[in-house]
Amino acid sequence: MTIPKTLGVIGGGGWLGGAIVGSILAAGLIQPNQLVLSYRRARPDRFEGAFWTRDNRELAARSDIIIVSVRPEDWPALDIDATRKLVISVMAGIGLADIAGRLGTDRVIRTLPNAAAEVGKSYTPWIASGAATAEDRAIVRAIFDACGTQDEVPSERDLDYLSGFSGTGPAYPALLAAAMMRDAIAFGVPADVARRAVNAILVGTGRLLEREDALPSDTVEAFLAYRGVTAAGIETMRASGFDDAVSRGLRAAFDKAVAMGGG
Ligand SMILES: NC(=O)c1ccc[n+]([C@@H]2O[C@H](COP(=O)([O-])OP(=O)(O)OC[C@H]3O[C@@H](n4cnc5c(N)ncnc54)[C@H](OP(=O)(O)O)[C@@H]3O)[C@@H](O)[C@H]2O)c1
Repeated sequence: MTIPKTLGVIGGGGWLGGAIVGSILAAGLIQPNQLVLSYRRARPDRFEGAFWTRDNRELAARSDIIIVSVRPEDWPALDIDATRKLVISVMAGIGLADIAGRLGTDRVIRTLPNAAAEVGKSYTPWIASGAATAEDRAIVRAIFDACGTQDEVPSERDLDYLSGFSGTGPAYPALLAAAMMRDAIAFGVPADVARRAVNAILVGTGRLLEREDALPSDTVEAFLAYRGVTAAGIETMRASGFDDAVSRGLRAAFDKAVAMGGG
């Protein structure tokens, strides 16, 4: 698929905005001269051939589709008219009704990519407003397939939950890896060995998952059934409150996502 329209990205110089633009250009979904990108402070020296502006009203006027990729705290100051345009938000916590009401369009799609969009491996759940068309949905699927994988979800509540679940990208696996590395160093393992070991575990896990698409609980059960070294580790981590700590953390992240949207 190619997108035969002009695409504006508000915050196109940011982390996620830039990652999305990079991925869709790499996938050949769009050409640089179909892109209108806005920045706030310094004009980024990226995406040759794209039109860069500081003026979001100009961006909206030039674009058929507008991706809003500013931080939620910068959302209230955004003042554009997106009448009759498709607006795609990547902002955590900001609801469909809020976006539609503020920007003057009822064709709104909320998406929640993650940092792995930078390497084309984001998981992106999304939800569309009632007025979004089949073509709007197809465009969103194409954009976020170019960034990794995507799923339409049934409710905004699911999307808010997933903000603190998959929107966090590498954060929780990194949290586990950091705790493991700290323990290894405290035990006396050289720091560079510990770092190479935990990073290799993460990469290896990803590769295995890509090949087998295994259910994580099946993997855990297989190690428990083996009754070896790993089972001792899993059972003690669980007895020490591992699952409960994860649930509490995910709940706190969900509450924060809802609070960011004023909910
Ligand atoms: N990064 C992630 O992993 C992730 C995951 C899920 C969702 N998100 C969502 O993605 C959005 C962007 O996050 P990010 O991580 O990419 O943040 P970021 O790197 O700070 O990017 C935001 C960009 O927006 C620019 N900006 C702010 N106000 C603007 C305006 N009025 N006009 C033009 N540009 C403006 C900022 O410019 P300055 O640098 O000049 O201030 C910055 O470059 C957020 O809403 C976040 O909730 C991010």
